[in-house]
Amino acid sequence: MGFDVAIIGGGPGGCTAADEVAAYGLSVVLFEAGMLGGTCLNRGCIPTKALLHEAALGISDPATLREKRADTVSALRGGIEKLMKVRKVTVVQGFAQITGPGRVSCDGELYEARDIIVASGSVPSIPPIAGADLPGVYTSNDVLEGVGIMPRSLAIIGGGVIGMEFALLFAQTGAAVQVLEAMDRILPPFDREIAQRVALHAKKHGIAIEASVQVQRIEGAPGEMRVSYADKRGQPRTLVCEGVLIATGRHANTGGLFADGALPELERGAIVADERGRTSVAHLWVIGDARARTVQLAHAAEAQARNVAACIAGRKPPVNEDLIPSCIYLSPEVASVGLTEDEAKAQGRAVICGKALTGANGKCLIEGSGSGYAKLVCDAQTHVVLGSQLVCPRASDMVAELALAINLGATAEQLAATVHPHPTISEMIGEAARIICREH
Ligand code: NAI
Repeated sequence: MGFDVAIIGGGPGGCTAADEVAAYGLSVVLFEAGMLGGTCLNRGCIPTKALLHEAALGISDPATLREKRADTVSALRGGIEKLMKVRKVTVVQGFAQITGPGRVSCDGELYEARDIIVASGSVPSIPPIAGADLPGVYTSNDVLEGVGIMPRSLAIIGGGVIGMEFALLFAQTGAAVQVLEAMDRILPPFDREIAQRVALHAKKHGIAIEASVQVQRIEGAPGEMRVSYADKRGQPRTLVCEGVLIATGRHANTGGLFADGALPELERGAIVADERGRTSVAHLWVIGDARARTVQLAHAAEAQARNVAACIAGRKPPVNEDLIPSCIYLSPEVASVGLTEDEAKAQGRAVICGKALTGANGKCLIEGSGSGYAKLVCDAQTHVVLGSQLVCPRASDMVAELALAINLGATAEQLAATVHPHPTISEMIGEAARIICREH
């Protein structure tokens, strides 16, 4: 069977690529071994946020949580299935393997396409800790795929985005949660000030955090696990808990994807690509978590999908991939886009910053959001917005305004000249901008 484009993986990257490529009038075949929607919809972003939302409302009954999450996931999946039909995308259920240039095999059938886009995503990385494969040791996949794991006490290994979101989720359902982080603080890639603020809020939710630890082994059975580790002074410690969650990162899902002789250049299992997603093999593209040195986020995969689809169709890539906002769904939320003050300074740039506090914002006070801020990082001379960090309610929605400002090269003066409605949390953006304008 011959197609213009074959896409491997039906997550946010693959489905967006299929939609875009088909909209350019090209024929598409999309292979998916599991369910359409990929990690994001079936065992990632959407179920986590659905569970966090329900838990924040005080729902902790596992059956109700499962049902609410399943309703959201199936409604969204239905939408994707409809879209694939409307676009006349041929969806093949099964594990696909690239056997050569323009050739894909799936369940004994051979498919041919001029271009192939790999969108096979990522899987949780398990560190080499003895006992990490024991029953009672989970990954986010286990929690989100409907197993109904609800331990009353939980050790979380890894204080990154997944570790901290799950810490809040389980703490809100009444579990005792302890996070064990190898680095000297949680959320290592994020701004230090954000990490400090998150640690403070985590403490208020009853979450214990220990940094600079070295986890040595896990023993026991579900309901009675023991995690042995060296604390920051090197002293041996043991944590007793009902379950253990491993959240130490994710790696590209490329196992079995390429037949012998069909392999493109890889870097630690991830597919090496140029800034346009071209791999070392002609007409083989990669988007999303399977790409080496990428930001592993659904909206980054979608941005890459739109650009690769345009390149294949001979059009100009429409999306600025250099500017990817990141969000953490905590209480309050965290969002960041562009440069932090430290990053700008490290690049030798003179910057001016404005920071509006949640304590002076009416809507935050009404909602009792706790301490937080909206910070703007601008060029010291021109006041062009270079970055922004938000720790406040609805930060994940508000960051889009800042991404737009940076994309358009807007200044603090232009943000300050824009009326933000009252009372809203977005007023903090106007306030942060005014602080910069006044300081000049
Ligand atoms: P991560 O890379 O964000 O964090 C992993 C953490 O584990 C790091 O802090 C690291 O220092 C620590 N760690 C590694 N080995 C360890 C060990 N042996 N003992 C203790 N700590 C150890 O990875 P995470 O949280 O698993 O997330 C994976 C990917 O999924 C990330 O790229 C993340 O951005 C993405 N994601 C994004 C979400 C969002 O945008 N809201 C939500 C969930 C995931």
